[in-house]
Amino acid sequence: MLIIMRHGQSTWTDKSVNRFAGWVDIPLTHIGTEQAEHAGELLQKSDLKPDFVFTSLLRRSIVTADIVLDAIDRSWIPVQRSWRLNERHYGAFQGETRPAMHDRYGDKLFATYRRSYDVRPPVIDVDSPFFQGNDPRYGSAIRDGLDDRDPSTIRTECLKDLAGRLQPYWDRRVAPMLVEGKTVLIVTHGSVVRAIVKMLEHISDADIRSINVPTGVPMIYDFMVSSAGKLRVQGPGQYLDPKAAEQGIAEVSALGQSKQ
Ligand code: 3PG
Repeated sequence: MLIIMRHGQSTWTDKSVNRFAGWVDIPLTHIGTEQAEHAGELLQKSDLKPDFVFTSLLRRSIVTADIVLDAIDRSWIPVQRSWRLNERHYGAFQGETRPAMHDRYGDKLFATYRRSYDVRPPVIDVDSPFFQGNDPRYGSAIRDGLDDRDPSTIRTECLKDLAGRLQPYWDRRVAPMLVEGKTVLIVTHGSVVRAIVKMLEHISDADIRSINVPTGVPMIYDFMVSSAGKLRVQGPGQYLDPKAAEQGIAEVSALGQSKQ
C-alpha cells in the first residue's frame, strides 16, 4: 500500500505571505504542524503502519514526516530522502508572491505557469538568493546513480521535467517495495503528488491542470501484483479525511486567485 501526502502548511503557503517556494527551504507554520499531527491520527485510526518512509530534502517534508511517524510511534522505520521528491523548481518565481506574478503575467499565463504540464516558469538568476546552486545538499557527493541528472544545475522545471526526474526513483526505489507488499509512506510536495496521481490514474496532460493537492492530508493507493510482478493500482487515490482535503484543495486554488 502507498500512503502519499503533501507536507503541512508552510510559512509561504500561509495566505498572508503567499510566496512561491519551490526549492526554497521554508519551515512549517503552527497550523502545518497541527495538520501533520492530524495526519498521524488518521493513520492511527485506519491502523496503517508504514514500513518505510520517503521524503524530499526540504524541511517542510522532513519535519512533517517526523511528526506523522512520532504520532504512530514509528519514528524508528527506515527513511530515504531524495531531491527527486522535492517540489517542482519554480524558477524565477521562487521567493516572489503569487499576486505579484499574477499581475505581471495575467490570468492565463500565470495559471499556465502554475498548473500546466509542459510550460516552465522563467529560469532563476544564478545570483538570486533563492537559487540553490551552491546548496551542499545538491552537491556532486549526493549522486544516487539512477541517472546523470545534476540537481545543482536546475534553474526551472515544469511538471513534465519533474516527472522525468521522479520516474527512475519510483521505478527503482519505491515500486519494488510496493511489489513486496510493504506499506510505503511518501511525504512530499504538491507537484510530486500531482505527478504520481497523473501516472497512477492515467490522467491526461490537459486534465492534470485541474488537480490541486491539499497540505497535510494522507491519500492511499492499494495495489495488486500481476503474475509478471507488475504493480496494478486498485482504483483512484482515497483521502483519509475527504472533508479536510476538499477544504485544503479550495485553499490552494484560492492562493492563486489573489491579486496585488
Ligand atoms: C510552492 O512551491 O510554493 C508550493 O508548494 C506550490 O505552489 P503552487 O500551489 O502555487 O504551485
